[in-house]
Amino acid sequence: MLNRSASRVLLNQDKSKLRRLLSFNTSTIERQSAGIIVGEKRNSKEPIQKKPVKKSRHSFKLFQITLALATCRSMPQPDNSSFYSILFTITDKIGALDNVLGIIKRVGVSLSRIESRPSKTSEFDYDFEIEFRLCDPKDIDKIMNAIKPAVKYIKLIGSMSEKSENIIPWFPRRLSDLDSFANKTLQYGAELSADHPGFKDPEYRKRRDEITMIAKTYKIGQPIPRIDYTQDEIRTWGTVFEKLTSLYPTHACREHQYVFPLLIQNCGYTKDNIPQLEDISKFLKECTGFTLRPVTGLLSSRDFLNGLAFRVFHSTQYIRHHSQPFYTPEPDVCHELLGHVPLFADPNFASFSQEIGLCSLGASDEDIEKLATIYWFTVEFGLCKEGDSYRAYGAGILSSFGELEYCLTSKPEKRIFDPAKTCVQKYPITEYQPVYFVAESFKDAQEKVRNFSHTLERGFTVRYNPYTQTIDVLDTKEKILQHANTIQTDLSLLLDSIKNLKC
Ligand SMILES: [Fe+2]
Repeated sequence: MLNRSASRVLLNQDKSKLRRLLSFNTSTIERQSAGIIVGEKRNSKEPIQKKPVKKSRHSFKLFQITLALATCRSMPQPDNSSFYSILFTITDKIGALDNVLGIIKRVGVSLSRIESRPSKTSEFDYDFEIEFRLCDPKDIDKIMNAIKPAVKYIKLIGSMSEKSENIIPWFPRRLSDLDSFANKTLQYGAELSADHPGFKDPEYRKRRDEITMIAKTYKIGQPIPRIDYTQDEIRTWGTVFEKLTSLYPTHACREHQYVFPLLIQNCGYTKDNIPQLEDISKFLKECTGFTLRPVTGLLSSRDFLNGLAFRVFHSTQYIRHHSQPFYTPEPDVCHELLGHVPLFADPNFASFSQEIGLCSLGASDEDIEKLATIYWFTVEFGLCKEGDSYRAYGAGILSSFGELEYCLTSKPEKRIFDPAKTCVQKYPITEYQPVYFVAESFKDAQEKVRNFSHTLERGFTVRYNPYTQTIDVLDTKEKILQHANTIQTDLSLLLDSIKNLKC
């Protein structure tokens, strides 16, 4: 029987992601990508019960793709060629992809990249993005026409006339792209694990299913449906709320304490009311541009961090089981709304979080793991300095009253936040952290993460465009000049405001 809060965010290894399985780079497939998982029992001597990794029903296709590419890559590469990207959709059935790859091979295209992900349009469809080089731009029509009869949908999505070996992988570039992976959860999600307190409670499971159905059908831009929480659920929330808020004045960081009363005033944060995601999302939007998107459970690190690049935080909407109000093996509204939400209303923290998200776009699996570790030691378990004292800003701490008390004692080691060192720090997942990293300020942490991002070998630069809510890849002279113009306008405004200040 646990008597301490144990809301946690863990890193888990997930090799079963279909997108990775269908990537042509076999070494990438063998690497383990980090996922984000909340919750494990404290003080448990038992190893974490992980679900066996199921083999993808698409695994066989990997071999086919690798073979096709091996064949294509043996062809001589023309020097005066340009890159092209095509997106096509096929319905999942045996031989469908093989058929398309056969056509590509027959028309003599040398594929340099192929990547897939579940289609947004149908559960049984998959989108594939391929890249290849052509000497004659007129050949693109011939290739499109050859593939067209074998696919459900096809579109030319890009070309790079400049010679470059830096191929840009797929990542969400529009806000609506986030809808494509919001339901691709790693664990829990649709089914509860045997160690979940609600596992043997059919009523709880039914209720949880009802709530996650909202996330399953939700699309970016829609209002988030409200939940009519039951008295049991409100009681559970109230127990956690009362305990944690008694510690915030002495243990939470200044920013958390500043925002919390505003959440009480604007979003209905009280002991007797579970706030609604829609109200919080509107509030955050006005503060920092962050919004919430309901999610069914745990996303992979890549997908979760990609969301932050758009200032979107994926949040669960259900609550932990009432039998153990201070323990949850997965994220729930207590963890999200009490731990995460207050800091997303702080401009500097919001920028810091987005910085990690932007670094994750198109990053390699190794770099995603590093970024997920940085996320762990900051957004989830970060401490900051306030005068001579330490304060907590990590959501994993702020939603766990046991760790909130422990982290400020002299027991754990405190180190200065340094992304290069933090990203390789090992950590336990079933105990309180023996090491915490301390940020001087969120602004300082953001600067450090930005500098750290320059050491990652991504090969391209991205920028979030707040007007269109899209990601711009600064890979052409025109785009870079356009960005320079924006900076010039901002600088002009800055100089003008400084001049007015002197007056
Ligand atoms: Fe979290």
